[in-house]
Amino acid sequence: MNDILPSQVSLWLKLEKTARDLFAAYGFSEIRTPIMEDTPLFSRGIGEGTQVVQKEMYTFIDRGGDSVTLRPEGTAGVIRAYIEHNLAALDAITKIYCLGPMFRYERPQKGRLRQFHQISVEVLGIDSPHADAEVVIMLQRLVRALGIFNYRLEVNTLGSFAERSTYLKLLSDFLAGLKMQLCEECQGRIEKNPMRVLDCKKTDCQHLVREAPLIINHVSEQTRDEFKVFCNALDAAGVEYKVNPRIVRGLDYYEKTSFEFVSDDLGSQNAFAGGGRYNSLVKELGGDDAPGVGFAIGCERVIMLLEQALTQAAVAAVHGVYFAVFDDKGAVAARPLMQSLRDAGITAEMDYTIKSLKSQLRRASKLGYRYVAIIGDEEINNNVVMLKDMASGEQRQVDRLALINCLNKK
Ligand code: HAM
Repeated sequence: MNDILPSQVSLWLKLEKTARDLFAAYGFSEIRTPIMEDTPLFSRGIGEGTQVVQKEMYTFIDRGGDSVTLRPEGTAGVIRAYIEHNLAALDAITKIYCLGPMFRYERPQKGRLRQFHQISVEVLGIDSPHADAEVVIMLQRLVRALGIFNYRLEVNTLGSFAERSTYLKLLSDFLAGLKMQLCEECQGRIEKNPMRVLDCKKTDCQHLVREAPLIINHVSEQTRDEFKVFCNALDAAGVEYKVNPRIVRGLDYYEKTSFEFVSDDLGSQNAFAGGGRYNSLVKELGGDDAPGVGFAIGCERVIMLLEQALTQAAVAAVHGVYFAVFDDKGAVAARPLMQSLRDAGITAEMDYTIKSLKSQLRRASKLGYRYVAIIGDEEINNNVVMLKDMASGEQRQVDRLALINCLNKK
């Protein structure tokens, strides 16, 4: 479980703000649900046989004797709220997103935490490949708006639950023939969740299942047509993707369209967003028969990509002014200027213990300030500041009253 340090928060805010603004443009509203829910919500929603439910949930008995669980993902809680507050009555289509911490007891490694954050998006009440395409297009636009370009979008169709049963039998039979050669975990998966064997990360398993039957070849014509409509809509929006028939996703509620955004810049935990259609979940959780589609972004992984994309200087760049003064007179002159900058929303700071100019410039640069306003006797007498651009080294006198305008222009 990580601390998010002050130096990192600006990137988090950037991610959250960019997502909020973009989602609003697509007609989404935010919902905030508790981080803890009754345990059966997750075991029923995510699936008893999944790794998440079997091994990764933070579950405990509370003082009242009820079993509660820290949410391992956002969708189940959002659907619970959707049913409980009858959000479907407000409009036939509900478009919502939620952001916050999630908890999974996983083996920690780079990009994999036990408390991590997701921004998760759901569209409820519509079963259309156009809706699937719209959420993927929105996600792709978000990724690019954040300045992430080194990624791949992989898409697949998992068929409906009904059409999957014949395929699962076929797959289990195929895997049973290889049982002793598969890794221990995959041997267990043959019974419980055979499709998960297909995306095992172990090279030996990957090699063994190369010839395995793939769901995409065993879905109905209708599902295949819908998948084509989905792909065509991505093409029309200029969204590049690759069909990867081995995407199976780790949660049991997915049907038909599924997708993942992956990046080679992340190491082995390479998926930074994923989602798909889930047409039976609302009913499974006690609601009406409402279809859904959505995705979640893994914030820590996106932040890792943003950190890599930006140069160190750009990450730190505070577009504000550091005040450097030589004595108390300078500090007194700086104070009202700093206040008016701050009132205008421009960051301003100084070190009140008077030090040499050199050490003040060093601190301004360490903090990433783009500008330093130097105030010595001459500047005080002439009602000006000496404004130094730390990027170019250039400096010039600026009238004190014109300082805000000058900075706003810059
Ligand atoms: P998920 O694929 O389990 O989907 O998680 C989505 C993203 O959360 C992953 O792609 C990954 O970036 C991030 N993530 C998952 N586990 C961890 C972890 N332990 N540490 C860091 N990041 C992690 C869902 O959770 C679905 N609820 C998405 C969804 C919404 N589907 C439909 N609507």
